[in-house]
Amino acid sequence: MNLDDKSLLGMAKAARSQAYAPYSGYRVGAALEAENGTIFTGCNVENASYGATCCAERTAIFKAVSEGIRRIKRIAIAGGTDEGLNYAYPCGICRQVLREFCDPDELKIIVGTSDSDIKTYTLAELLPDSFGPDFKNTP
Ligand code: THU
Repeated sequence: MNLDDKSLLGMAKAARSQAYAPYSGYRVGAALEAENGTIFTGCNVENASYGATCCAERTAIFKAVSEGIRRIKRIAIAGGTDEGLNYAYPCGICRQVLREFCDPDELKIIVGTSDSDIKTYTLAELLPDSFGPDFKNTP
């Protein structure tokens, strides 16, 4: 599939409609493009314990990895409250989970408040000097 960033963000917005966020009211959707072009989506899934909550990004990443994906090229995130969308920057844990399945200089992260207000970053910009799988087994 050859989607532009705006379309991928549109898929994140659609996924956001499934968000289960009765505690925070902050509803998030994510849509990622895997290396083979397949799109996976996810939403945040909250829990009464709070701590068991899963972010939209990790829902999408774990769906992809559980289907055999090991490399992610792009991820769009749409988040906000009933008041509207804001720039839904991924949390620190999700940045680190993304790090596992990409080249940080290549992975594109897309956030936006509307179709005409989109920002893009690389993971390296949002998670500089990161630790990743390439460090494993290094003496
Ligand atoms: N959340 C995400 O889904 N993604 C992020 O990157 C930040 C936070 C969710 C978790 C929780 O359900 C709600 O937003 C408030 O933190």
